[in-house]
Amino acid sequence: MKHFINLKDISSRDLRKILVDSKKRKKLRKNLSNLEVDKGAPLKGKILIQMYEKASSRTRLSFYLAIKQLGGGTITLRSNELHLGQGGESIADTAKILSTYGDGFMFRTDSDKKIENFKEYLTIPIINGLSPSSHPTQVLSDIFTVEEIKKKTISKLKICWIGDSNNVLDSLIAASVKFSFKLSIGCPKKFEPGNKVRNWVKKNNKKIYIYNNPKKAALGADVIFSDKVISMNDKVNKKNKILQFKKFKIDKKLFRYAKKNCIFLHCLPRGNEVDDEIFLGKKSHVWQQALNRVHVQKSILLYCFGKLR
Ligand code: CP
Ligand code: NVA
Repeated sequence: MKHFINLKDISSRDLRKILVDSKKRKKLRKNLSNLEVDKGAPLKGKILIQMYEKASSRTRLSFYLAIKQLGGGTITLRSNELHLGQGGESIADTAKILSTYGDGFMFRTDSDKKIENFKEYLTIPIINGLSPSSHPTQVLSDIFTVEEIKKKTISKLKICWIGDSNNVLDSLIAASVKFSFKLSIGCPKKFEPGNKVRNWVKKNNKKIYIYNNPKKAALGADVIFSDKVISMNDKVNKKNKILQFKKFKIDKKLFRYAKKNCIFLHCLPRGNEVDDEIFLGKKSHVWQQALNRVHVQKSILLYCFGKLR
């Protein structure tokens, strides 16, 4: 049984295998509508239980389509409607029940420890649909989008992140090691990535490049990524933090430092970190990026169910 919790814990070979499968499947679906099932219905009869402790638009919709297109079904639970969420049932018992009724569990949570606890008691695979420390399904899908648009393996590209050191960046850092690409990060000194992730990069004999000047980070970039300055789990003084990121706003002027054909990607939802001219302009591929989550998550599901060819 394979879980999908953190990119750090999955081999580069398996991650690449997932992307190769997504590319094949996406191509084969060109003329199919949303709910038509892939040939062979590889997950026929399987049910994915999704549980959200936090808001989600894209993740819930994309997992819905992903499992449906593989011939299976899904049910979405909000933890506050469960005995677990009300505090009346343990993780161990809930995990047993999920494993009895379901075949896979997709979980968005505000606690990394909870994922580990569930993993201990589940007898079905668990997928991390965003936690405080990572957003692995998003970032693997973003690697797919970059390679699809650039028509190059990501190891040949310079990737730049302008923004907060959050869960999405942590997964992007993990991806930079797994897929060997150059990653430069632009953020205020106070919001640089923490020692835990930096030491992990060092231990893996890789390097990330951190600048407190957005222009330096964007220099020569093929892709500029960003995300909200204030994440769902952020318990900071919001006004103050936004003020500290003022110089890091992504606009046309910043793009002048990147390569001419540099693209913009953002996982969404957005805040004020990018202006409309860039976000809605030609360089932005955010809608294609969002839709690709369906294709990549299908292959993640197949990986977890041991059905990846
Ligand atoms: N990008 C992303 O995960 O979006 P949602 O929070 O809407 O799921
Ligand atoms: N960093 C953001 C990502 C949302 C998809 C958050 O955790 O809120």
